Amino acid sequence: MTKPTISCAKNGPMIVKGLENFIDSDGQRLETRPAMGLCRCGASLNKPYCDGNHKYAGFTDEASPERTPDELRAYAGQAITILNNPLLCSVAEYCHRELETVFDTRKDPWIDPDGDALEHIKGLIEKCPSGALSYAINGEPQPTRNCAATITIEKNGPLRITGSIELKDADWGQGASQEHYTLCRCGASKNKPFCDGSHSAIHFDDSK
Ligand code: SF4
Ligand code: FES
Repeated sequence: MTKPTISCAKNGPMIVKGLENFIDSDGQRLETRPAMGLCRCGASLNKPYCDGNHKYAGFTDEASPERTPDELRAYAGQAITILNNPLLCSVAEYCHRELETVFDTRKDPWIDPDGDALEHIKGLIEKCPSGALSYAINGEPQPTRNCAATITIEKNGPLRITGSIELKDADWGQGASQEHYTLCRCGASKNKPFCDGSHSAIHFDDSK
């Protein structure tokens, strides 16, 4: 069985090859083809597939001057060091919605690695869809997941990639898991090809 791959066409769609598991935001399986173009400009009238509208929408994947710096920040506690690279964050907000004793954006620093039990912290980090969060134990970075190769659509949001699908020619952020990551499909991210949460600010509506 060939391993799936993703590449990004210049100013155009994601080209996905060899994918078997393609899941929509309702958990239903979507049609796959041996090679398929997926919209990443937000303008396709046939989402999630590309319909060529990027040409008329003026879509560009040039690096934004507002790109988030690639910086792996470490928050060392007694049992765990939590690592965070904001370049990769899709602002899915599991962290501070579900474990506010550890992830509290009102505080500085906003991450307290001693704020809850080790297993709760590990469980939360495994939920982080973007791979922005990871952790180290005794100074050794730990793998956080090992899922089947799958692309899942987030409603009005990015593509969630799991299962170490190769992203060709990617400029990975430091500490990126590469097992899971989130790719922009609204066209507005400053951190393309990764999602940066801008879909919320532009009210991206994938039904249009
Ligand atoms: S993507 Fe990860 S780091 Fe970013 S808000 Fe969500 S859980 Fe937190
Ligand atoms: S899908 Fe474009 S920024 Fe999240």
